[in-house]
Amino acid sequence: MRYMGMIAAVAASLLVSITGACAASAEKGRVAFREKGCWQCHGYEGQGGANGLTLARTQLPLEAVDVFVRNTDGPMPPFSKKMLSDEDLADIYAFLSAQPVPADPKTIPLLAH
Ligand code: HEC
Repeated sequence: MRYMGMIAAVAASLLVSITGACAASAEKGRVAFREKGCWQCHGYEGQGGANGLTLARTQLPLEAVDVFVRNTDGPMPPFSKKMLSDEDLADIYAFLSAQPVPADPKTIPLLAH
């Protein structure tokens, strides 16, 4: 019985360290999104703007975003791994995915006529 507890504790700590190493951070992503200039076209919150699509709550998987961001040859400049590390991109993805759904304008008293 004693051993079972120990095994469970070791397994739990392993799980924490593995997920900890891979966990992308939305907070770091918010910083990277600004530092790398994504906001200039996509808006500070990834809400979209005159020059870029809405990225907040993207339905694309991270792999698709990665392929697009690194290889696009359209109006958006491509970002190599040198300019934007895999870690930064994963953090940016976490930041965009974590964006809250905006409130329905009808529920905002100031906008009611
Ligand atoms: C110079 C303006 C500009 C900058 C800077 C920029 N983008 Fe874009 N981005 C665009 C435009 C325009 C599109 C639409 C391009 C197209 O359809 O080919 C786009 C499309 C995308 C898409 C595809 C979205 C979809 O749903 O198809 C992703 C993901 C994306 N951008 C991420 C980023 C990230 C991450 C950064 C910063 C590292 C960034 N962009 C910086 C202009 C920009």
